[in-house]
Amino acid sequence: MTKPLILINCKTYPEAAGKKALKIAQQIAQVKNTKYRIVIAPSLLTLQEIAGKVKIPIFAQHADPFSFGAHTGSIPIQELKSLGITGTLLNHSERKIPLTILQKIVHLCRKEKIITVVCASSLAEVQKVASLHPDYLAYEPPELIGGNVSVTKAKPEIIATAVRLVRSLSPSTKVLCGAGVQSAADVQKALELGTSGVLIAHAVVKAKNPKRMVERMLE
Ligand code: G3P
Repeated sequence: MTKPLILINCKTYPEAAGKKALKIAQQIAQVKNTKYRIVIAPSLLTLQEIAGKVKIPIFAQHADPFSFGAHTGSIPIQELKSLGITGTLLNHSERKIPLTILQKIVHLCRKEKIITVVCASSLAEVQKVASLHPDYLAYEPPELIGGNVSVTKAKPEIIATAVRLVRSLSPSTKVLCGAGVQSAADVQKALELGTSGVLIAHAVVKAKNPKRMVERMLE
Protein backbone atom coordinates (compact mmCIF):
# COMPACT_ATOMS: atom_id res chain seq x y z
CA MET A 1 0.00 0.00 0.00
CA THR A 2 1.37 3.40 -0.93
CA LYS A 3 1.42 6.08 1.75
CA PRO A 4 -1.34 8.72 1.68
CA LEU A 5 -0.27 11.81 -0.25
CA ILE A 6 -0.21 15.23 1.40
CA LEU A 7 0.19 17.77 -1.38
CA ILE A 8 0.98 21.29 -0.21
CA ASN A 9 0.01 23.72 -2.96
CA CYS A 10 1.80 27.05 -2.52
CA LYS A 11 -0.29 28.65 -5.32
CA THR A 12 1.18 32.12 -5.88
CA TYR A 13 0.79 33.18 -2.27
CA PRO A 14 3.23 35.92 -1.25
CA GLU A 15 4.28 33.85 1.78
CA ALA A 16 5.92 31.37 -0.64
CA ALA A 17 7.08 33.74 -3.38
CA GLY A 18 10.64 34.57 -4.43
CA LYS A 19 13.24 33.68 -1.81
CA LYS A 20 10.55 32.58 0.62
CA ALA A 21 9.79 29.59 -1.63
CA LEU A 22 12.94 27.68 -0.70
CA LYS A 23 12.53 28.57 2.97
CA ILE A 24 9.01 27.17 3.20
CA ALA A 25 9.98 24.07 1.19
CA GLN A 26 12.92 23.46 3.56
CA GLN A 27 10.68 23.89 6.61
CA ILE A 28 8.13 21.41 5.27
CA ALA A 29 10.90 18.99 4.28
CA GLN A 30 11.96 18.89 7.93
CA VAL A 31 8.66 17.37 9.03
CA LYS A 32 9.47 13.91 10.31
CA ASN A 33 6.62 11.65 9.40
CA THR A 34 6.81 8.16 8.03
CA LYS A 35 3.09 7.58 7.58
CA TYR A 36 2.51 10.08 4.78
CA ARG A 37 4.17 11.13 1.55
CA ILE A 38 4.55 14.89 1.78
CA VAL A 39 4.93 16.76 -1.51
CA ILE A 40 5.22 20.47 -2.24
CA ALA A 41 3.98 22.32 -5.33
CA PRO A 42 5.74 25.72 -5.37
CA SER A 43 4.78 28.49 -7.78
CA LEU A 44 6.05 27.81 -11.29
CA LEU A 45 8.41 30.77 -11.13
CA THR A 46 10.15 29.35 -8.06
CA LEU A 47 10.44 25.71 -9.16
CA GLN A 48 14.01 26.07 -10.32
CA GLU A 49 14.94 27.78 -7.07
CA ILE A 50 13.90 24.72 -5.08
CA ALA A 51 14.56 21.79 -7.40
CA GLY A 52 17.32 19.55 -6.06
CA LYS A 53 17.57 21.46 -2.77
CA VAL A 54 14.99 19.69 -0.61
CA LYS A 55 14.46 16.05 0.24
CA ILE A 56 10.73 15.93 -0.46
CA PRO A 57 9.26 15.47 -3.95
CA ILE A 58 8.44 18.64 -5.85
CA PHE A 59 5.42 18.84 -8.13
CA ALA A 60 4.63 21.58 -10.66
CA GLN A 61 1.32 23.42 -10.47
CA HIS A 62 0.75 23.05 -14.22
CA ALA A 63 2.35 21.56 -17.34
CA ASP A 64 1.78 21.97 -21.07
CA PRO A 65 1.56 19.17 -23.64
CA PHE A 66 5.02 19.81 -25.08
CA SER A 67 8.55 18.55 -25.02
CA PHE A 68 11.45 20.98 -25.50
CA GLY A 69 11.01 23.14 -28.61
CA ALA A 70 9.40 26.26 -30.01
CA HIS A 71 6.64 26.74 -27.43
CA THR A 72 6.94 30.30 -26.17
CA GLY A 73 5.46 30.84 -22.73
CA SER A 74 4.93 27.13 -22.05
CA ILE A 75 5.87 24.69 -19.30
CA PRO A 76 7.30 21.73 -21.26
CA ILE A 77 6.99 18.39 -19.48
CA GLN A 78 10.51 17.37 -20.53
CA GLU A 79 11.93 20.51 -18.97
CA LEU A 80 10.13 19.78 -15.70
CA LYS A 81 11.62 16.32 -15.80
CA SER A 82 15.11 17.64 -16.46
CA LEU A 83 14.80 19.82 -13.33
CA GLY A 84 13.97 16.78 -11.21
CA ILE A 85 10.27 17.60 -10.84
CA THR A 86 8.45 14.30 -10.29
CA GLY A 87 4.79 15.23 -10.69
CA THR A 88 2.34 17.91 -11.67
CA LEU A 89 -1.01 19.29 -10.62
CA LEU A 90 -3.31 19.76 -13.60
CA ASN A 91 -6.69 21.35 -14.24
CA HIS A 92 -6.85 23.09 -10.86
CA SER A 93 -10.00 25.20 -10.70
CA GLU A 94 -7.71 28.24 -10.73
CA ARG A 95 -6.05 26.90 -13.92
CA LYS A 96 -8.58 24.98 -15.98
CA ILE A 97 -7.51 23.01 -19.07
CA PRO A 98 -9.83 21.89 -21.91
CA LEU A 99 -10.35 18.10 -21.80
CA THR A 100 -8.72 17.36 -25.17
CA ILE A 101 -5.54 19.22 -24.12
CA LEU A 102 -5.64 17.59 -20.70
CA GLN A 103 -5.71 14.21 -22.39
CA LYS A 104 -2.51 15.06 -24.29
CA ILE A 105 -0.79 16.31 -21.14
CA VAL A 106 -1.68 13.20 -19.13
CA HIS A 107 -0.47 11.02 -22.00
CA LEU A 108 2.87 12.84 -22.27
CA CYS A 109 3.35 12.81 -18.49
CA ARG A 110 2.79 9.05 -18.46
CA LYS A 111 5.43 8.69 -21.17
CA GLU A 112 7.90 10.82 -19.18
CA LYS A 113 6.96 9.14 -15.86
CA ILE A 114 5.70 12.38 -14.33
CA ILE A 115 2.96 11.75 -11.74
CA THR A 116 -0.34 13.40 -12.63
CA VAL A 117 -2.74 14.90 -10.07
CA VAL A 118 -5.75 16.06 -12.07
CA CYS A 119 -8.36 18.18 -10.31
CA ALA A 120 -12.10 17.96 -10.78
CA SER A 121 -14.63 20.47 -9.44
CA SER A 122 -17.79 18.37 -9.66
CA LEU A 123 -18.95 14.77 -10.02
CA ALA A 124 -19.58 15.40 -13.72
CA GLU A 125 -15.96 16.47 -14.08
CA VAL A 126 -14.79 13.53 -11.95
CA GLN A 127 -16.29 11.24 -14.60
CA LYS A 128 -14.56 13.05 -17.46
CA VAL A 129 -11.19 13.18 -15.70
CA ALA A 130 -11.35 9.50 -14.66
CA SER A 131 -11.62 8.59 -18.34
CA LEU A 132 -8.06 9.93 -18.76
CA HIS A 133 -6.73 7.52 -16.10
CA PRO A 134 -4.44 9.95 -14.27
CA ASP A 135 -2.36 8.72 -11.32
CA TYR A 136 -4.43 10.84 -8.91
CA LEU A 137 -7.76 12.60 -9.27
CA ALA A 138 -8.33 15.43 -6.80
CA TYR A 139 -11.90 16.47 -6.03
CA GLU A 140 -11.97 20.15 -4.99
CA PRO A 141 -15.25 22.08 -4.91
CA PRO A 142 -14.25 25.64 -5.96
CA GLU A 143 -16.60 27.40 -3.55
CA LEU A 144 -14.76 25.89 -0.55
CA ILE A 145 -11.22 26.59 -1.77
CA GLY A 146 -9.41 29.11 0.41
CA GLY A 147 -12.13 29.01 3.07
CA ASN A 148 -12.32 27.61 6.56
CA VAL A 149 -14.94 24.94 6.01
CA SER A 150 -13.30 21.68 5.02
CA VAL A 151 -14.61 19.72 2.04
CA THR A 152 -14.61 16.69 4.35
CA LYS A 153 -17.23 18.37 6.57
CA ALA A 154 -19.23 20.11 3.85
CA LYS A 155 -19.35 17.38 1.21
CA PRO A 156 -18.49 13.96 2.69
CA GLU A 157 -21.09 12.15 0.57
CA ILE A 158 -19.71 13.64 -2.64
CA ILE A 159 -16.17 12.57 -1.70
CA ALA A 160 -17.40 9.01 -1.05
CA THR A 161 -19.30 9.02 -4.35
CA ALA A 162 -16.23 10.34 -6.19
CA VAL A 163 -14.15 7.51 -4.68
CA ARG A 164 -16.71 4.90 -5.82
CA LEU A 165 -16.99 6.44 -9.29
CA VAL A 166 -13.24 6.53 -9.83
CA ARG A 167 -12.84 2.96 -8.55
CA SER A 168 -15.32 1.78 -11.16
CA LEU A 169 -14.07 3.93 -14.06
CA SER A 170 -10.32 3.91 -13.45
CA PRO A 171 -9.27 1.41 -10.75
CA SER A 172 -5.60 2.42 -10.94
CA THR A 173 -6.38 6.11 -10.20
CA LYS A 174 -6.17 7.20 -6.58
CA VAL A 175 -8.52 9.87 -5.26
CA LEU A 176 -7.56 12.94 -3.25
CA CYS A 177 -9.71 15.76 -1.97
CA GLY A 178 -9.00 19.34 -1.07
CA ALA A 179 -10.51 22.71 -0.12
CA GLY A 180 -10.50 24.14 3.38
CA VAL A 181 -8.52 21.21 4.84
CA GLN A 182 -6.95 22.54 8.03
CA SER A 183 -6.87 19.98 10.84
CA ALA A 184 -5.85 16.44 11.71
CA ALA A 185 -9.55 15.56 11.89
CA ASP A 186 -10.03 16.78 8.30
CA VAL A 187 -7.12 14.65 7.06
CA GLN A 188 -8.40 11.58 8.95
CA LYS A 189 -11.93 12.07 7.64
CA ALA A 190 -10.63 12.29 4.06
CA LEU A 191 -8.88 8.93 4.52
CA GLU A 192 -11.95 7.37 6.17
CA LEU A 193 -13.97 8.40 3.13
CA GLY A 194 -11.66 6.30 0.97
CA THR A 195 -9.27 8.92 -0.40
CA SER A 196 -5.53 8.45 -0.70
CA GLY A 197 -4.69 11.87 0.69
CA VAL A 198 -5.41 15.58 0.57
CA LEU A 199 -4.40 18.84 -1.05
CA ILE A 200 -3.75 21.71 1.33
CA ALA A 201 -2.92 25.32 0.56
CA HIS A 202 -3.68 28.32 2.78
CA ALA A 203 -3.79 26.49 6.13
CA VAL A 204 -0.10 25.60 5.72
CA VAL A 205 1.30 28.29 3.44
CA LYS A 206 -0.22 31.13 5.46
CA ALA A 207 0.49 29.57 8.85
CA LYS A 208 2.92 31.34 11.21
CA ASN A 209 4.89 28.11 11.41
CA PRO A 210 4.19 25.95 8.32
CA LYS A 211 6.29 23.04 9.61
CA ARG A 212 4.44 22.92 12.91
CA MET A 213 1.11 23.19 11.10
CA VAL A 214 1.89 20.18 8.88
CA GLU A 215 3.04 18.22 11.94
CA ARG A 216 -0.18 19.06 13.74
CA MET A 217 -2.31 18.03 10.77
CA LEU A 218 -0.54 14.69 10.47
CA GLU A 219 -0.49 13.79 14.19
O1 G3P B 1 -4.90 22.82 -4.39
C1 G3P B 1 -5.36 22.93 -3.08
C2 G3P B 1 -6.21 24.08 -2.89
O2 G3P B 1 -6.99 24.47 -3.94
C3 G3P B 1 -6.98 24.03 -1.61
O3 G3P B 1 -6.86 25.30 -1.12
O4 G3P B 1 -6.52 26.95 0.61
O5 G3P B 1 -8.61 25.60 0.54
O6 G3P B 1 -6.47 24.52 1.20
P1 G3P B 1 -7.13 25.60 0.40
